Amino acid sequence: MIELRNLERSYPIATGRSWVLRNIRLAIGEGDFVSITGPSGSGKTSLLNVLGMMDHEWSGEFRFDGQQVQGMNPRQRQAFARDKVGFIFQHYHLIDDLSVAENLDLPLQYRDVPAKERAARVGDVLDRFQIVGKKDLYPNQLSGGQQQLVAVARAVIARPRLLLADEPTGALHSSQGQMIMDLLQQLNREGTTIVQVTHNEAYAKMAKRVVSLFDGWLTEA
Ligand SMILES: Nc1ncnc2c1ncn2[C@@H]1O[C@H](COP(=O)(O)OP(=O)(O)OP(=O)(O)O)[C@@H](O)[C@H]1O
Ligand SMILES: [Mg+2]
Repeated sequence: MIELRNLERSYPIATGRSWVLRNIRLAIGEGDFVSITGPSGSGKTSLLNVLGMMDHEWSGEFRFDGQQVQGMNPRQRQAFARDKVGFIFQHYHLIDDLSVAENLDLPLQYRDVPAKERAARVGDVLDRFQIVGKKDLYPNQLSGGQQQLVAVARAVIARPRLLLADEPTGALHSSQGQMIMDLLQQLNREGTTIVQVTHNEAYAKMAKRVVSLFDGWLTEA
């Protein structure tokens, strides 16, 4: 599904360039579940941003479904990613003045899903994530765990083939964290390819593979 070769990312600094990703080689198959671990500042979020096509300023080779991502312009990449990728951010990124149901509806609006189908899908996801009772509440009326549940629901509502999760359990208590991990495993069993960043060793091992970043260099255990 995905192949990265000699992928590099750097930022210009006063004395030259600061390297964030170094010569990354990584293949991710359809149905895979990969954990990325590594110390703070080692490049984990940077790598997810490349995979999610939110960052365009890298060099090297990136193939996705046989297509060369490096050959696309930012607009094409955005459309490509919107089609295939869902993103769970560390700090939820829910929209505060939209209700839970409206937050869930938004990704479907972006994709021009007809209103009737949108309503059905929002209903399904509210059911599945057991948050029907919260649908008219606003994010600030939810606990952290509930907000993260909504963020996961929002990331998967458009049925992306690739789900990217940046420390999805980072801000949660362990029981809530376990619930999110169970959900990710369930989605993976249903066929969603997942790449998650995590600092939690037990959660890392719930994936099929664990890779580590250190100063921008990637190794696989
Ligand atoms: N806009 C930027 N300009 C310069 N350097 C940057 C920029 N964004 C990120 N970096 C650098 O890239 C490196 C990797 O950052 P990244 O956010 O990928 O780390 P991380 O592994 O996700 O860390 P954490 O576990 O703390 O989230 C850091 O050294 C950071 O300072
Ligand atoms: Mg990070």
